Amino acid sequence: MLKKVGRILSVLACLGTFLALIANLPVFFLPWILWFLAAAALMVWLWPAGRTGAFVLIILGAFVYIGALVTEISGGGGTAVAAEGVNPEAGEAIYWGKGKCSTCHSLGDQGSAIRGPNHENVCAKALAERLPARQAAGASHIQTPTDYLVESIADPQAYIVEGFSGAMPKVYLPPVSLNPDEIRAVIVYMQTQGCEADPAAINLPAEILNAATAEVAAGGEFNLVLVGDPAAGRELFFDEAEAAACVKCHTVAGEGEEVGPELTDVAGTQTAAYIFESIMNPSAEIAAGDYEPIQVRLNDGTVLSGIIVAEDEASLTIKDKEGEETVVNRADVDREARYPDVPSIMPSNFGELLTVQQVADLIAFLQESAGVLPAEEEGE
Ligand code: HEC
Ligand code: HEC
Repeated sequence: MLKKVGRILSVLACLGTFLALIANLPVFFLPWILWFLAAAALMVWLWPAGRTGAFVLIILGAFVYIGALVTEISGGGGTAVAAEGVNPEAGEAIYWGKGKCSTCHSLGDQGSAIRGPNHENVCAKALAERLPARQAAGASHIQTPTDYLVESIADPQAYIVEGFSGAMPKVYLPPVSLNPDEIRAVIVYMQTQGCEADPAAINLPAEILNAATAEVAAGGEFNLVLVGDPAAGRELFFDEAEAAACVKCHTVAGEGEEVGPELTDVAGTQTAAYIFESIMNPSAEIAAGDYEPIQVRLNDGTVLSGIIVAEDEASLTIKDKEGEETVVNRADVDREARYPDVPSIMPSNFGELLTVQQVADLIAFLQESAGVLPAEEEGE
């Protein structure tokens, strides 16, 4: 009797995962193909006579799986089709695509970006850690983990996760410009990281709902009046003999030094106004995290300055402008000063060294690198 029930259950499990595999349902824990093989193996073990059926199913399953893989690899179907409406699949597609979240965030072992926190279990973390922290800070309107997720997108600077910078852009404004439904979808995707997907729990604030109209009212995006020339900008960026020589500290497309943040995609997530400000007045806002400037004087009189790349109770690791790292024992430190008492290590005199045209060229080069062409050049 028990054996019979077991057989029926194993057949149902096998058929169920097979259907899930064909329907391309969102997976949990393991890819459906593995669940399916496990269920099929269980079925064969409990019911040797069903071997032929199981075998046929396995062959079919393998075909479906390979078919799905091929569509995914060739970039077709799957995600693009699912990328509509407010559901986790649409959110996933936006997260790894249009939303550019993955230029700064990873999720579990997917992706490799480290400028923002890893989003594994972000919703569970929102409930257990961020909610109490926000309420302790007096943000009484943050009542649920979803409220926290909404806030982290509506107003990223309202709460800065420890150890990270305030560099998260408002993704409902240019250049990312997600619309309210795209934001909802991305939040539902974040909910699936440790909570239940629940679109009804999402209350978007007016900033997001009115972003499109507000932009028009404010006269559209920041405009540099001058049209930049990306080729001239590339030259300025990479030529160490030029006054700019950004390459001494930054990488674009893998070329350059890693003293400051990588800039390949910066124009994809930040506005031209932000980049302009970062060049003209680097200390106004520090892309902190790993870029916080520090100056220390050691007991023996040596002075070191650079950015803090690591610190713990016993020591500090400081990277200087040349990219050289020095580990300093805290016991040897006589005095230390940090931002804002110490400015960014990015030179603050580009406003004098470069003409406005050259700054426009640099921005155009960064926009070209990120695949966002300035409006004036579209259609050329
Ligand atoms: C340019 C880099 C950058 C981009 C692009 C970016 N973020 Fe962030 N994000 C950050 C940083 C840095 C933090 C941590 C500081 C803070 O709390 O604002 C953060 C924090 C968050 C948090 C809070 C995480 C936590 O552990 O509490 C969420 C949620 C989030 N981002 C979602 C997104 C989503 C969704 C997108 C894409 C639509 C996105 N981010 C795009 C840099 C970025
Ligand atoms: C001596 C090293 C150095 C040089 C040279 C330098 N930078 Fe930077 N830059 C940094 C550091 C460090 C940061 C991060 C700290 C900060 O925000 O000030 C930074 C930040 C930036 C940012 C903000 C990035 C972000 O993701 O928020 C931009 C944009 C930028 N630099 C552009 C440039 C350009 C363009 C040039 C050439 C004209 C240049 N930098 C030259 C060190 C440098």
